[in-house]
Amino acid sequence: MPERRNRRVLLAARPQGEPKESDFRLVEDPVPEPGPGQILLRTLYLSLDPYMRGRMNAGPSYAPSVEVGQVMVGGTVSRVEAANVGPFRPGDIVEAYTGWEEYALCDGRGVRKLDPSLAPVTTALGVLGMPGMTAWTGLMNIGQPKAGETVVVAAASGAVGSVVGQLAKVKGCRAVGIAGGEDKCRYVVEELGLDACVDHRRADLAEALKPECPEGIDVYFENVGGPVFDAVLPLLNPFARVPVCGLIAHYNDSRPPDGPDRLPWLMMQILVKRLTLRGFIVSDFARQQADFLAEVGPLVRDGRIKYREHFIEGLENATRGLIGLLRGETFGKTIVRVAPEGRS
Ligand SMILES: NC(=O)c1ccc[n+]([C@@H]2O[C@H](COP(=O)([O-])OP(=O)(O)OC[C@H]3O[C@@H](n4cnc5c(N)ncnc54)[C@H](OP(=O)(O)O)[C@@H]3O)[C@@H](O)[C@H]2O)c1
Repeated sequence: MPERRNRRVLLAARPQGEPKESDFRLVEDPVPEPGPGQILLRTLYLSLDPYMRGRMNAGPSYAPSVEVGQVMVGGTVSRVEAANVGPFRPGDIVEAYTGWEEYALCDGRGVRKLDPSLAPVTTALGVLGMPGMTAWTGLMNIGQPKAGETVVVAAASGAVGSVVGQLAKVKGCRAVGIAGGEDKCRYVVEELGLDACVDHRRADLAEALKPECPEGIDVYFENVGGPVFDAVLPLLNPFARVPVCGLIAHYNDSRPPDGPDRLPWLMMQILVKRLTLRGFIVSDFARQQADFLAEVGPLVRDGRIKYREHFIEGLENATRGLIGLLRGETFGKTIVRVAPEGRS
């Protein structure tokens, strides 16, 4: 029988600005053998997420960088191939964090068994996984929307934003999305059921947003930064809450934006409007995972929260997938199909 091979994607160089394919390297090794206390996982699906761009940089952040020569990190849905540690059995489908490789060894810590009869297993990487939980924890803990208020969310057709907007509707709010392009805006209104969606590529974004928020904005869920934040800021109501979840418009920046006078001006807005801007990382609320699944799981199962998945075929295309995600070229939760879900 031919030796099984394990393809892995390593970080080859730290990108300057937008990542390039040459910043990654695809290598092939033999599939490792699990030792005592280890399980061997076969990756079925790999999640692609904006935070991966930050991990490619050197320097301090809320999580360690990927070193040059190391496997790129990432969340996965995997099948247990062999297990020398309980409670796992060969054939189990699990959520893990084993990164950009076809097979991986781990000790079972942080690995969660999935029940494929409850929901498609890919939802563990999206609407019922880290992005969905980010939406729910940021909106509920920091945004604290009340019925009748206006909630605006950026990157509204994406993995996090789509859940934020739909949850705002469930809570009885007016929900307004901001997204890139006509197709995404149409999807946000017609499929997800938000009240309106404005295309951030329009030159007159600020003017276009204003009539969609006739009572101002009470909660702005920030996923983007840049000109989108500039358009939202004047519309924020006194005591508005701004969960600062992500700033994807700046992830490829190699130096802080120009304009040293901007910060005191922003502070003045925070003061006079008594705004609450709070950054958060989903792991800050890790203890709320059961509450998140208890509330959002049934909403997904009964179709009140919809989701869309954008599949990329094959680990060798993950690099192009991440570059496309950062450019806004993917639509919905971006997932690499690494191996078929049925046994092969
Ligand atoms: N704090 C946390 O714990 C946490 C956890 C997960 C995610 N996040 C953050 O949440 C945000 C959304 O993540 P996601 O996984 O849901 O990604 P996503 O929305 O599925 O994909 C990223 C989207 O960002 C938009 N975008 C990219 N560049 C932009 C720009 N210059 N201006 C405006 N929009 C731009 C694009 O949408 P359009 O085509 O609509 O422009 C793109 O599709 C990211 O900032 C991410 O880092 C934070």
